[in-house]
Amino acid sequence: MFKVHAVAPDRLNALLKAMPKAELHIHIEGSLEPELIFALAQRNGVHLPYADVAAMRAAYAFTDLQSFLDLYYAGASVLMHEQDFYDMAWSYFQKAAADHVVRAELFFDPQTHTARGVPMAAVMEGLSRACRDAQTRLNISADLILCFLRHLPEADALATLEAALPWRAHFIGVGLDSSEVGNPPENFSRVFAKARALGLHVVAHAGEEGPPAYIWSALKDLQVERIDHGVQAIHDAELMAYLAQHQTPLTVCPLSNLKLCVFDKLSDHTLGQMLDAGLCVTINSDDPAYFGGYLNDNYVQTFAALHLGAQSAYKFAANSIEASFATLEQKHHWMHELKQCFQGFSEQD
Ligand code: ADE
Ligand code: ZN
Repeated sequence: MFKVHAVAPDRLNALLKAMPKAELHIHIEGSLEPELIFALAQRNGVHLPYADVAAMRAAYAFTDLQSFLDLYYAGASVLMHEQDFYDMAWSYFQKAAADHVVRAELFFDPQTHTARGVPMAAVMEGLSRACRDAQTRLNISADLILCFLRHLPEADALATLEAALPWRAHFIGVGLDSSEVGNPPENFSRVFAKARALGLHVVAHAGEEGPPAYIWSALKDLQVERIDHGVQAIHDAELMAYLAQHQTPLTVCPLSNLKLCVFDKLSDHTLGQMLDAGLCVTINSDDPAYFGGYLNDNYVQTFAALHLGAQSAYKFAANSIEASFATLEQKHHWMHELKQCFQGFSEQD
């Protein structure tokens, strides 16, 4: 559709930043920067086991998913009141606006907070208020996806869904996150069936560290609409063919995969191969405060490492918009903006 030829890195980076895009895989608790963790700890009288922000950042050296989750849950312990949840999400939205995110679907982990005695109301009301302000003040369409912690029993997930129902209008879907290996999707079949019956969208983390069988289980047992991560699909040819045929979106998070040692180097990432195989892959930030970059950083660094060009940029942005849970009308609007953005870019040649 657009002229394809080599583009200078500065121009490609300007295009990556300017193009309208959706972020479909961001844990809002993973956007808590150390500065905000310290500010909230002081506000709420919470003790942190670090002398200062620099010492906390220095501890962000992970070997795998679990080594990250231990710090991520500790960081989230400073969140206590409605305003804390608002401040966290608002801080993320300001960064998303700078990256030209037009649509954000935020994961949140209520069990991490309710287990500490934080009321569900504080979590829901604070995050929802920030989403409303994102629309009115930043023109970002934002919605919430409630995630169940898979290292806890399904009974806890069922109780969490029940406890969230008074705020049914405040979230559009459910997801499954936390420690993957040893906690397969099929363990959560009943709670996902219940969520589907309630008209909620359903997604699940699968194939981040876990085997392709977990991706199959998320598709077949949970009937998910999108797979979060899914990079291990590359090891199963039949699964790759299925994902391509059904155009099941994968929300891939390259800097996360690098920091959690799923790949040794960004240039080893299989995102380019998945795109070439016809899968509906998208680029996302996962836990940007911990993994060294927000959405645009993920695009810029991945494009440089994999030598991707403007045609791929268009495809990733279009995939992100089409794979979102926004309305058809919104999608048409953003696709029109995306086409205009690329038209303007190719006319400058
Ligand atoms: N929770 C926050 N980030 C996560 C990730 N990358 N995988 C699983 N659970 C998570
Ligand atoms: Zn994630």
